Amino acid sequence: MAKTVKTIGVLTSGGDAPGMNAAIRSVVRAGIAKGMKVKGIMRGYAGLLQEEIVDMKSTSVSDIVNRGGTILYTARCTEFTTTEGQRQGAEICKKHGIDGIVVIGGDGSFRGAGKLSAFGVNTIGVPGTIDLDIACTDYTIGFDTAVNTAMEAIDKVRDTSTSHERCSIIEVMGRHAGYIALWCGIANGAEDILLPENYDGNEQQLIDRIIENRKRGKKHYIIINAEGIGHSSSMARRIEAATGIETRATILGHMQRGGTPTCKDRVYASIMGAKAVQLLDEGKSNRVVAYKQGDYVDFDIQEALAMTKDIPADQYEISKLLTR
Ligand code: ADP
Ligand code: F6P
Repeated sequence: MAKTVKTIGVLTSGGDAPGMNAAIRSVVRAGIAKGMKVKGIMRGYAGLLQEEIVDMKSTSVSDIVNRGGTILYTARCTEFTTTEGQRQGAEICKKHGIDGIVVIGGDGSFRGAGKLSAFGVNTIGVPGTIDLDIACTDYTIGFDTAVNTAMEAIDKVRDTSTSHERCSIIEVMGRHAGYIALWCGIANGAEDILLPENYDGNEQQLIDRIIENRKRGKKHYIIINAEGIGHSSSMARRIEAATGIETRATILGHMQRGGTPTCKDRVYASIMGAKAVQLLDEGKSNRVVAYKQGDYVDFDIQEALAMTKDIPADQYEISKLLTR
């Protein structure tokens, strides 16, 4: 039987994440191994609409498995959220002979992928975001590198916080989700972890704990604050005024999105990229590759987007008891 998908495209969309390059490399090489032509679409959906499409060879993805960022660049594209933009995107795919696309990105990118699918372009999503906030999967490309980067940075802040006997509020990324904060809170032995999913805004309780800890002889007080709560600088000013303890805020910011991907991110991203190509080769569309309970699986995009997940309650409880 003749193959339905002969030419595939690959794009990265939304916030970049370390390991995206490993996924691109895998899509390109797995596609070529299956006899497909592979095209790289630059700058996410924005590049698709601008027809920034390049042929990819096996050597186009040499020397990238170890590099952070994305060689295809990434973007956010409002035009693609309109039906007209999506129709145009699908027409451009057809014009370039692209009958299958792998979209590496987060939930927003998957919404776009679902729309492309509805317009007749076989589309598969691969979860790429440092936030770990995609409900259908226990793993997203970039999270492992981001938490390791943040952990190392927080260890450094901790040294100076101890020397100066300060309170330090360190804000980590995660958009509306607290996974990076939870992991760093545990890994860095923080005195407090503030997650958007659980924080009740009771700053007085926080202040009381800081004072009590100081009385117990603790030299520093590390608070990991999630971006979803934010306001770290004003929080620091209020805490200093209320406790009399010098307090500084550090917002780690975009450094968490860069750097050399960890082994886990390289390997998982490579496997997910190849799985996406396999799905296209089987004639499938409108699916998301996921990692669930130790297995690589795939879900219908709309079903995946309808799923919800929360910070595991037991993990949060354990993190709290370790801060005592
Ligand atoms: P992420 O993929 O990391 O969640 P965004 O939410 O910024 O990042 O989404 C990335 C891009 O996906 C957007 O800039 C837009 O082009 C596209 N996108 C987001 N939501 C939709 C939607 N509802 N329909 C079509 N495309 C969308
Ligand atoms: O989704 C990844 C992420 O880094 C979030 O943690 C953060 O909220 C957002 O992207 C920042 O986006 P930008 O790159 O537009 O500042």
